[in-house]
Amino acid sequence: MTSTKKVTNRRPKNNVGGLNFGPTSVAEFLAQFWQQKPLLLRRFVDPGSVNTGLESLLSFAQQDDISSRLIRVRKQDWSMQEGPFDALPSLRTKQWTILLQGMDRSLDQAYALRLAFGFLPHARIDDVMISVASAGGGVGAHLDEYDVFLVQGHGQRRWRWGYQSDHRFQTNKPLKLLERFEPQFEAVLEPGDCLYLPPRWAHEGVALSPCSTWSVGFRAPSRQEFLQYFLLEAAESVSGANPRYQDMRLAKTKQAGRIPIALAEQLKQWAMSFRSEQPLVEQALGRFLSEPAANAWFESPAKSLSKRQWLSKALAFGLALHPASRMVYDNKSVWLNGEILARPCPLLRQLADQRYIHANQLKKSLPENMTNALSNAPTKHFDPVTKRQDAGECKKTVEFQPLFDSLFGCYQQGSIRFWSEKHS
Ligand code: SIN
Ligand code: CO
Repeated sequence: MTSTKKVTNRRPKNNVGGLNFGPTSVAEFLAQFWQQKPLLLRRFVDPGSVNTGLESLLSFAQQDDISSRLIRVRKQDWSMQEGPFDALPSLRTKQWTILLQGMDRSLDQAYALRLAFGFLPHARIDDVMISVASAGGGVGAHLDEYDVFLVQGHGQRRWRWGYQSDHRFQTNKPLKLLERFEPQFEAVLEPGDCLYLPPRWAHEGVALSPCSTWSVGFRAPSRQEFLQYFLLEAAESVSGANPRYQDMRLAKTKQAGRIPIALAEQLKQWAMSFRSEQPLVEQALGRFLSEPAANAWFESPAKSLSKRQWLSKALAFGLALHPASRMVYDNKSVWLNGEILARPCPLLRQLADQRYIHANQLKKSLPENMTNALSNAPTKHFDPVTKRQDAGECKKTVEFQPLFDSLFGCYQQGSIRFWSEKHS
């Protein structure tokens, strides 16, 4: 008897990128929990995907491109030191923790965890911070301004959390510790478990054994942050007529220190009538959202390649963004690391969405005459008399040239690299 059961290859809705939302579908998570209320997710990730050893994690605290903080507590006496650190206490010594910021830029497992969150806009992701704690270690009761997924790596940590309107912090402490903490929930997280917390929920995690916690943190710009950035950009773009204040037939004054009313009025009028153009705002917001982290850096590849060598290698391996690169786009532009890269096209959108382009995807988007040239197959040239190259291919060639130049430029700066060299 033949089975009538329909075979479907669709992935369950509650498992995206290897993240297991359990009985909650991702759509339900987004509708009911994201930015609204906490959710405890057992076995959220495979524990093997966050199992980098504690000692190797601690070695990152020696690096000066990783921002690290060592926090210790003894009978409510908190101390904090900033890294890099040549030496750290032993994990047998209780009640200390180290926070390692931006680990997705340096550790493949942390970058893979970050990539799993591709169901949320990249513009909202900040970084993956990893904390390593000895038993009893933690950062005290506090709240964060951003959404965070606290994924347990090694060991166990007890989390307590709750919603409270009292957001006052203790004074004279090296950390922002809540004055009063009123947790309503409690759970011990095992390797692979996760606690999702929306912004401004009070929480405290205490290590029950030497452990690591991988925090996937999100960012949301504040009005002031964006305006400060935008106004700096706008200042550089002030152009057009440049009249200067004039005071012909000025009357004699007895109050030389006083600002003349006409002068004040003129300056106020210039300030109040300043209107930023829409393209300027759009440009600033793309730059702002794609600005890499302050201590992120890119290195040119050790071996320099010609454009042709680079393209044939890209066609063999595919391309990927450097983990520290930020790439975003809208309908008009694509930005990479604070700079406009090009106009959007399917290839760049794919690179920005997935953060890599598979070699086959790259091949498909290349004009035929370029792939042929690289593979030494007979090259099809556009012949205006015979019109042997079809119009579509010709358009592709014209469009691909500048794109190819920009991508090659990014490769030379280190913001884009070959894909499977790193991730195969
Ligand atoms: C930690 O990993 O100890 C702190 C993470 C957090 O509370 O946001
Ligand atoms: Co926190």
